[in-house]
Amino acid sequence: MYSDKIKYVGCDDADLDLFESQYDVPKGMCYNSYLLCGEKIAVMDAVDPRKTQEWLTHLSLSLNGRKPDYLMVHHMEPDHSGSINAFLQAYPETTVLASKQAFQLMTQFGIEPKNTQIVKEGDEVALGGLTLQFIAAPMIHWPEVMMTYVPEEKTLFSADAFGKFGVYDADPDDWACEARRYYFNICGKYGQAVTRVLDKAAKLDIQTIAPLHGPVLDGEKLTEAVRLYTIWSHYDVETEGVLVAYASIHGNTRHAAETLAEMLRKRGCPKVAITDLTRDDMGEAIEDAFRMRKMVLCCATYDMDIFPPMHMFLHELGLKLYQNRTVGILENGSWAPQAARIMKGMLETMKDITIVEPVVTIKSSLHDTDMPALEALAGAMMK
Ligand code: FEO
Repeated sequence: MYSDKIKYVGCDDADLDLFESQYDVPKGMCYNSYLLCGEKIAVMDAVDPRKTQEWLTHLSLSLNGRKPDYLMVHHMEPDHSGSINAFLQAYPETTVLASKQAFQLMTQFGIEPKNTQIVKEGDEVALGGLTLQFIAAPMIHWPEVMMTYVPEEKTLFSADAFGKFGVYDADPDDWACEARRYYFNICGKYGQAVTRVLDKAAKLDIQTIAPLHGPVLDGEKLTEAVRLYTIWSHYDVETEGVLVAYASIHGNTRHAAETLAEMLRKRGCPKVAITDLTRDDMGEAIEDAFRMRKMVLCCATYDMDIFPPMHMFLHELGLKLYQNRTVGILENGSWAPQAARIMKGMLETMKDITIVEPVVTIKSSLHDTDMPALEALAGAMMK
């Protein structure tokens, strides 16, 4: 419970291996759900089907014999909608509130509530002592998304926005790390939509943000989260520095990447991050690319193309609308180096990418004769 009238009834999922079948979640995940207790009762969102029974138990205990009048569905992705049918079996008379498009998605997912009410931007539902004011938030990161503001509690129920990886209590003193990885990998493509909803939220007196994942935010944590979301949604630079991202088959490209990273450190680069695209978490590499102002790509040639982990990285950066950044290139090739040409081609499809000269080519391994070109690239990355 975080207020007299709002109870937390969500669930931790500590054993989940991959969120959305792709993101490592070493500290698990949580699916938040809240009970709003006015004269009428509203449940704010269901949970992932992995946690149906636990959630229904939390609900039953908190309801203490009462029945919910409403279930508000802010977002239809199955980590929030997957328990709706079980909920409706337990509480069939509940009126489900959702956007028009959410009801279309419910039909597609096999959810057929008996009592429904479409809500749209500006609509209100009075619970008696609490009011649900609905805000359209399309493309955060699905089209049907709504948020709800409750003025009596100065609380914004923000759907996936302001969410993070991890169980509810993970990282109590470091919201940003896993919120950033979550944001860029899940909402990164939708910066314009996030900006639009932040503009709407700025007109409200919000003291608490209650997202669908991660902790409720208030006070300084809320202020910092909004500051970071403003940077991230505008694709602005959060951290001055360089990410060195390498895809190396036998370790020679890795050696060149590590040598370049050391050159950057010696030249006083404020932050140098390095990631092995074949072994490190891809989601973290994506996050660091957006976080930093600059990036160097180091890649081996493979089948007259680029080594597939680099292809995946650049493909994902393109999907997430990576933009407005400075990128250096180092390629390796033993007989016909092609990686630089392919990487340049992929970067040229992205918006406002400046490619730094010189592009460095090494043959099989880093030689003393390559060092001037590598120093030149390090120097150019520092400008
Ligand atoms: Fe947490 Fe987009 O679902």
